[in-house]
Amino acid sequence: EEIEKPFVEIKWDAAAAEKDGYEHFMMKEIHEQPRAVRDTLSPRIKENESGERYIDLSETGLTDEDFTNVSRVYLIGCGSAYHVGMAARYVLEKAARVPCEVDLASEFRYRDPILEESGLVIIISQSGETADTLAAMRIAQEKGAKVIGIVNVENSTIAQECKNVVLTKAGREIAVATTKAYSAQLAVVYALAIRLSEADGAISRREAAELVEELKSIPDKIEAILSDAEKIKPFADIADQSDYICFIGRGVDYCAAMEASLKLKEISYIPCEAYAAGELKHGPIALIENGVIVIGIITNKNLVEKTISNIQEVITRGAKTLIITNQILPNNNFGYVINIPETNELISPILSVIPLQLLSYYISKNKGLDVDKPRNLAKSVTVE
Ligand code: G6P
Repeated sequence: EEIEKPFVEIKWDAAAAEKDGYEHFMMKEIHEQPRAVRDTLSPRIKENESGERYIDLSETGLTDEDFTNVSRVYLIGCGSAYHVGMAARYVLEKAARVPCEVDLASEFRYRDPILEESGLVIIISQSGETADTLAAMRIAQEKGAKVIGIVNVENSTIAQECKNVVLTKAGREIAVATTKAYSAQLAVVYALAIRLSEADGAISRREAAELVEELKSIPDKIEAILSDAEKIKPFADIADQSDYICFIGRGVDYCAAMEASLKLKEISYIPCEAYAAGELKHGPIALIENGVIVIGIITNKNLVEKTISNIQEVITRGAKTLIITNQILPNNNFGYVINIPETNELISPILSVIPLQLLSYYISKNKGLDVDKPRNLAKSVTVE
């Protein structure tokens, strides 16, 4: 039986699927992050008559009133997309003062979730095809919730089925371990957080405009980190034979730690875990002995001392440490330190994760592994 298929225009060209002189797609995609974030943000940043910039998310179909009335936000995804949801929670709760719940799609779909009538569900997926995320989206829509899908692939199932879609403009991502799509997703959730904060009056128009300026400067700051990409290499040479690596951080730094730990685990096969730094003493400290690697992320000036004291605890027990920071540390006896540019502390994961993506890359390469296609993993998980 003959059927007629609709004509679909694929906007990604062949050049996008080539490595452009990079040895691996992952490295190419890491370097594409400034462009990915810029392309994702620029159509959504507008200027009013007085020259103030603001976030325009009218494409979601949600009105000012809809944004003002959001009583709770539910953020749902799998893998790195879930980590984006975690990072978004800190920003939304702190800036917009809206309570948030973050769920793994595979949990959300089976827990018969209670959704508030004026809740907003945010579905995050690079591929737009992840089976659990798709199922979660369908459940949320069936329950009558307002749903926004943040998706990178334009013709994907989630992009087609979700009533309100915000497309990330990361371009085609080929390496299994996501980098540029993750950053582009973060850019969108930050934009959304600013939009919500302003709509519900949690921040003034001027404060919102300042945050927009900060967001606008992010691609240049990512570029600055990438211009010295090899700085992390000596630490990769130390860490590549480890049996276990622990990442710690507090607040949004904990979210960045989760993403960094997943990245490293995926492509190096080293058992890694991320811990909220305050939890170190409730378990992982038992694993710390001579030579164990601990990586700390410190971008919140109010929490520097706390996390530094955790770093000191592990150094005393023989750990080798790396700190990613944009803060002034009390002294310089902390092993390796990578400084990243300053930014608003709520959005810092979009910067702090970059040196750690590079670390994962170099460790995987040192070990002679298949960086772009790690064993047992798939780019798009369309089955449960
Ligand atoms: C796979 C990929 C991860 C990704 C996750 C969710 O596990 O390897 O990089 O974060 O799926 O994928 P999605 O396409 O829904 O963002």
